Amino acid sequence: MKVQIFANDQQVAQQALSMLNEVVENNPTAVIGLATGSTPLQLYKLMIEHKDKYRQVTTVNLDEYVGLGEDDVNSYHYYMHSNLFRHIGIDKDKTHLPQGVGGSLAKLCQDYNRLLSNNRQDVQILGIGSNGHIAFNEPYTPFDSVTHVVDLTPSTIADNSRLFDRIEDVPTQAITMGISNIMASKSIIVIATGKAKAQAVYDMICGQVDERCPASILQRHNNCTVLLDQDAGSLLPAHLDNVKYIA
Ligand code: F6R
Repeated sequence: MKVQIFANDQQVAQQALSMLNEVVENNPTAVIGLATGSTPLQLYKLMIEHKDKYRQVTTVNLDEYVGLGEDDVNSYHYYMHSNLFRHIGIDKDKTHLPQGVGGSLAKLCQDYNRLLSNNRQDVQILGIGSNGHIAFNEPYTPFDSVTHVVDLTPSTIADNSRLFDRIEDVPTQAITMGISNIMASKSIIVIATGKAKAQAVYDMICGQVDERCPASILQRHNNCTVLLDQDAGSLLPAHLDNVKYIA
């Protein structure tokens, strides 16, 4: 695991973009794993400025809420379309997210697993939850999990409620890539910004590899880079062999 700490979130996004650009410069049809949430929004703005590089990629997203169709403004389909896909002119058929509606949940999970096995990520972008979750793999999700349905924890529902009019509107279940689907990616870039992530970041990097902190498994990935702003990295010890501070 490599860790880089930057002065601010804009520099974090810039570094994530440089790393993604390198992947697509080497392979214009790369498979890129994407995330939703607040953290990647700056990165997506920068990708739009470099849209010519991203027209031919295939994308796979981490997760989707159960019960929200792609036209629902709170769905992750809608988020990806409005924040990235429609601006870069990518063919819709090359963009993939788990479906939150349209069949039995077991079938929707199976379909997404099949899709992932045919589209292994060259790079996966990840955010991290304040409880250490990656995608919607909450604490104690088995490390060998594949795409599955999750009951969201009260802390994740509370975190996500800021994007909804009322907390009662936040779905209580989601379909998520499993931890082993994430670990299958050839490379992983975790981005985390803000003080609220500092403890989870510490546990991911310095804690024991333990299902209590799903992100801790990333210590075992052979090509994982963590990009942090100073707030998210504020609990890390001053000297760590794998940490590069970039002011
Ligand atoms: C999003 C996802 C989540 C978020 C995490 C951080 O697709 O799977 O794991 O990456 O909850 O969210 P933000 O960036 O909103 O703090």
